[in-house]
Amino acid sequence: MKPKVFVTRPLPAQAIEMLGARFQVEVHPQDSPMPREELAAACREVDGLLVAGTRVTEEVLSAAPKLRAISAASVGYDNIDVAACTARRIPVTNAPGVLEETTADLTFALLLAVARRVPEGDRYIREGRWHEWQWGLLHGADIHHKTLGLYGFGSIGRAVARRARGFSMRILYYARHRVAEAIERDFEAHYVDRETLLRESDFVSLHVPLTAETTHAFRAPEFNLMKPSAFLINASRGKVVDEEALVEALEKKQIAGAGLDVFEREPKVHPKLLTMPNVVLVPHVGSATSETRLKMAMLAAESLIALLEGRRPPNVVNPEVYEETLNTKARRHKDA
Ligand code: 8YV
Repeated sequence: MKPKVFVTRPLPAQAIEMLGARFQVEVHPQDSPMPREELAAACREVDGLLVAGTRVTEEVLSAAPKLRAISAASVGYDNIDVAACTARRIPVTNAPGVLEETTADLTFALLLAVARRVPEGDRYIREGRWHEWQWGLLHGADIHHKTLGLYGFGSIGRAVARRARGFSMRILYYARHRVAEAIERDFEAHYVDRETLLRESDFVSLHVPLTAETTHAFRAPEFNLMKPSAFLINASRGKVVDEEALVEALEKKQIAGAGLDVFEREPKVHPKLLTMPNVVLVPHVGSATSETRLKMAMLAAESLIALLEGRRPPNVVNPEVYEETLNTKARRHKDA
């Protein structure tokens, strides 16, 4: 019998067909999150699971005794309890390498939109308020020759840096680990400590994964350090920012504005953000282009096929599952 696979979103037909050629495939027909119990029920008999933004919890895993592979059609995998998967020796794979440039485009779109007040101008015209050209209409902030502070300097941060060079920006970055000098030179990026990044940047753009360490990395003290003329751009994960503190910083004019693709309690957005004209909001669409979504789905499907056929895909996020001797080693250590 063919292995069974469950796909939690109606992904592009090409990806589903590729899976269908090898496995019995069931696809959740709605492009909406599945309630946990429903997902658990759907996973009861499955060998492989392909998810996109779907929460995979211990409850789901314990309802799926045959599950032996999980593939995420995203670069982030904070929606998956990876430790619980590792404990069950289930490899989890994600989809880096196909969406970084697209997410960097959206990051830059937010930066440009908020600094030059593009959505405000659009609303102004649509609301029939434009009657004459005015000298003082919708003054924004310059982008060129300003300082961009990248908080996190992985592949998305670097793709944003590449764009910033075209705008003659000065590029600072802060990351847990400083990158090699040759890379800094390539991107014309200068490593600084966290405080300097916050104090000196005109745009602070977040590019870190969501981990215990990065959760609420931006609270009141961070906003206090930023310039009153600075903008916060976030296309990483909403929980990196304490949304209440962001609202307060905006209300107190400690920062000038924000461009946000992600939110602390998606799809809920802090009601005060909705009333602020100096905040540009988009609904977690960083990687949402037709081309990139197809690549994400294909990569996720290919990786799931590899896992279920006993091959190791390129992006396993918990490679410990392949350490045959993991338990043996731990036991030996305990016995010693
Ligand atoms: C996804 C993302 O759209 O890849 C990521 O980490 O944030 C987005 O590209 C989202 O996570 C749903 O899979």
